[in-house]
Amino acid sequence: MTILIDQPEMGSQLDVEKTASAIDDLVLDGGFVMPKSAADDGFMAPNINSFGNNFRDYHAESERQKTVEEFYRLQHINQTYDFVKRMREEYGKMDKVEMSIWECCELLNDVVDDSDPDLDEPQIEHLLQTAEAIRKDYPDEDWLHLTGLIHDLGKVLLHPSFGGLPQWAVVGDTFPLGCAFDEANVHHKYFKENPDYDNPAYNTKCGIYSEGCGLDNALISWGHDDYMYLVAKENRTTLPSAALFVIRYHSFYPLHRAGAYTHLMNEEDKENLKWLHIFNKYDLYSKSKVRIDVEKVKPYYLSLIEKYFPEKLRW
Ligand SMILES: [Fe+2]
Ligand SMILES: [Fe+2]
Repeated sequence: MTILIDQPEMGSQLDVEKTASAIDDLVLDGGFVMPKSAADDGFMAPNINSFGNNFRDYHAESERQKTVEEFYRLQHINQTYDFVKRMREEYGKMDKVEMSIWECCELLNDVVDDSDPDLDEPQIEHLLQTAEAIRKDYPDEDWLHLTGLIHDLGKVLLHPSFGGLPQWAVVGDTFPLGCAFDEANVHHKYFKENPDYDNPAYNTKCGIYSEGCGLDNALISWGHDDYMYLVAKENRTTLPSAALFVIRYHSFYPLHRAGAYTHLMNEEDKENLKWLHIFNKYDLYSKSKVRIDVEKVKPYYLSLIEKYFPEKLRW
C-alpha cells in the first residue's frame, strides 16, 4: 500500500546532512511516499507518525487520510493485550522459515514490491540507502549500519509463508498494552472500541506495570518491530543492546516523537533512546534517483551480517 502525502507542514527540522539534492521523494517507514518540498534542498521532517502523517494536519479531509484512518481504526480495535501475547507466543517459536539475513532482504523485496506499486526500484536498494546514509554520518558505528539494513525485515510477516498477516498487525505506530492508551497515539478515539479500553486492570496510567519498570517488561503492539527483535534475540545476535532497542521500538512514535510513556522506561532505555532518536532521522529515507550499486556494497554488509549473526537464522 502506498499512500501519497500532501506537502507536509514543516514542524521540526532534522539535521540530516544534505544528501537529498537529487531526491524527488521521501519514503517513510512503511514505504509511504511523501513529495519533497521543491523549495528546500535537504531533508525536512515534520512531526510525523510512521505513516508520514503530520499530527497537526490530522483532520484534513482526503481519501488518503481516510485510508490511514481506517488502518488505525482496525489496528486500535484489534491490537489487544491477549492478541499481542498470542502473537509473541506463536512467532516466538521461530518455526516458519530458515534463512540468512541477506535472503530475508531479498524476500522482503517481493513482499513490499507487491503492495507498493509506486516503488520502481528494488526494496533492497532502499534498505541499503538507509544503511549507507547512516554509514556516511557514523562511519565507526558498524552495528548501526547493519541495524539500518535489517530494522524492517520483520515486514516479511506480510508474506504468505509467515501467515500473511494483515497490515494492522505488521506496520503503523506501536503502543503499549496493559496500561492506558496515551492521547499522543494517532486516532486515539478508536481505542474506545478496543476491549482493553474498559478493563480496569489496563486503563490506568501504569496499568499492570510500575513506574520505571523498563520497556522490556511492557507488552507493545504486535508488528514488524517486535518480531525482528525476537528473531535477532532468539538467534543470538551479538548486536549491542542499543541496536535491539532501535529495532524493537523504531515504530513507537508516541514514545520517541511525542515523549509519551516515558514513565515506563528504565535507565538503560533512556540511554538507548538517544540512539533511536539518531536512527529515526534515517528511517525517513530517500527514494533517490541515484541508484545504490547493490553488488558493490553487498560485501560490506555480508561482512557485518557475518560479524553479528549466524549464517542461517530461524524465523
Ligand atoms: Fe524503516
Ligand atoms: Fe519499520
